[in-house]
This record gives sequence, C-alpha cells and structure tokens, in this order.
Amino acid sequence: MKIVNSAAELADGCTFVPTMGALHAGHASLFKLAKGKSEFVVASIFVNPLQFENSKDLELYPHTPDRDIEIARDSGVTHLWLPQISEIYPDKTVNKVAGPIGEIFEGANRIGHFDGVVTVVSRLFDLLQPTQAIFGEKDFQQLVLIKNLAKESYKHIEIIAAPTIRESGGLALSSRNIRLSASDRKTATVIYSALLAAKDCKTINAARTAMLQICSQQPGFILDYAEIIDEDNFKIATDSTSKQRAIIAGWLNGVRLIDNMQMNPSAGNTGAQ
Ligand code: PAF
Repeated sequence: MKIVNSAAELADGCTFVPTMGALHAGHASLFKLAKGKSEFVVASIFVNPLQFENSKDLELYPHTPDRDIEIARDSGVTHLWLPQISEIYPDKTVNKVAGPIGEIFEGANRIGHFDGVVTVVSRLFDLLQPTQAIFGEKDFQQLVLIKNLAKESYKHIEIIAAPTIRESGGLALSSRNIRLSASDRKTATVIYSALLAAKDCKTINAARTAMLQICSQQPGFILDYAEIIDEDNFKIATDSTSKQRAIIAGWLNGVRLIDNMQMNPSAGNTGAQ
C-alpha cells in the first residue's frame, strides 16, 4: 500500500472510500468491497472540520493513525491518501449546501453538518476523479445526500451503498463507539432491538410505537427520534410508501448514536401490494 499526501500522485479511475480515520471493521468491509470491484482502491483519511458543528466534538473525534494504516493495508487499500487541509480547502473553496434533506433529522440536530459533508465529498471527488465511491448505509441520510449530489454533479461516479456491520449484540460499528464503556455498549443494543421490532410491523404507526416503547424502557438512553421514512426522499413514510426505512438517533452518556434498518416490504400495506 502506497501512502500519498496529494491526489496529484494518484491516477483517475479508482474505487474510492473516503473516511475520517479511526478505522474499524466497518471501514474494513468497505475496503474489501472496493477490492472486489477494482485493482486500484483509494481510501482517504481527512477529519473534515466543516462537518463538526462544534469544536468540542471535533476535538473529541478519535485519532488512531497507526491502526488506521494497518487496517487499510490488511483490507485491500492500494493507496492511502492523507490530504492536507490546504489541498482540500484552498482559499477560494465555495461551500456547498445540502438542501432540505440536510436540514431534518441529523441535520436538525447538527446544524451545518451535511453542508460540510457534501462540500468535502465534492472536493474529494473533484481532486481524485474516481469511477466508483463506496459509503456505508449506517449513515443513511448522508448516503441519500451523496447519491443526490452525484445525480446532480457527478453522474460519472457510481455511488455504491455498503451494508452496516454490527457487533454481536447488534450495535452498529462506528468510530464514536470508542467512547462507550462495555456496559454502554450493552445498553446501546436497545437501538437494534427497537429497529428489529419495527421491521416486521404491519403499519407505520405500529412500528413507531414499538420503537418508542422499547427505547423509553431503557434507562440511560435518551431518544432523539424514532421514525419511518421514505428511503428516496427522507419524507415521513405512509403505509403506502414502497421503500420504507426505520431510523433512530439518541444519546448515551454524551455519545450520539444513530442507526437504521430497511422495513420488511412484505410485512405491511406498502405500495408493493
Ligand atoms: O462518513 C464519513 O466518514 C464522513 O462523513 C465522510 C463521508 C468521509 C466525509 O467526511
């Protein structure tokens, strides 16, 4: 694996996995997926200041550089790109706006977060010119926004969604999990239980009620939202929405946790029937 500091050292046409480091088995699964698609797999590590709405969260973001290099190397990355801030944001960078989907759910809790995400992803795409780019379904709202960005401005880049990787108890892997104690990790599985309960409900109301009930019974977990949305546009789903997804966010000991799960289309009165 070659480590480079500038995209100028990389040829166009790779499969790309952008990250902010603090790599874990979830990232490794994205790299392995990329490896199956291309001989030229570029991963970037850039902690993007624009997507942190407060400086404390940016400061607390975990840094594990040695482990990151090991994980990238062992999972099929051929080129690890560690850009400097001056490469990503030269003086005249114009910030992008994520639009209405960027202002709800995670965007309402983290003002400006998704503007920062679409801005950095555009910069990374402009500099690298990949053929394909892989993003995890764990950050589903981010995935939808990036698919929309590609539809608008990067039609030549195929956006590939990769499934969420979970711990054995169901907790979705995230770089932020480093900040959870062993007992927090157990508590956090409430999110997975709530999503599973929602998945097979026959109506949106039943699914929402199941999630609220399960989350409210878990001491220590502070629920922010539990909803069923339309996967294509992030609007609140109705019983006739064909592609429904349950989404949950909440706080555990000061750590924000998010997760989501596709609803079982054969369970309810979806448009498929
Ligand atoms: O999901 C992430 O790690 C980040 O939001 C991304 C896509 C690398 C942009 O900084």
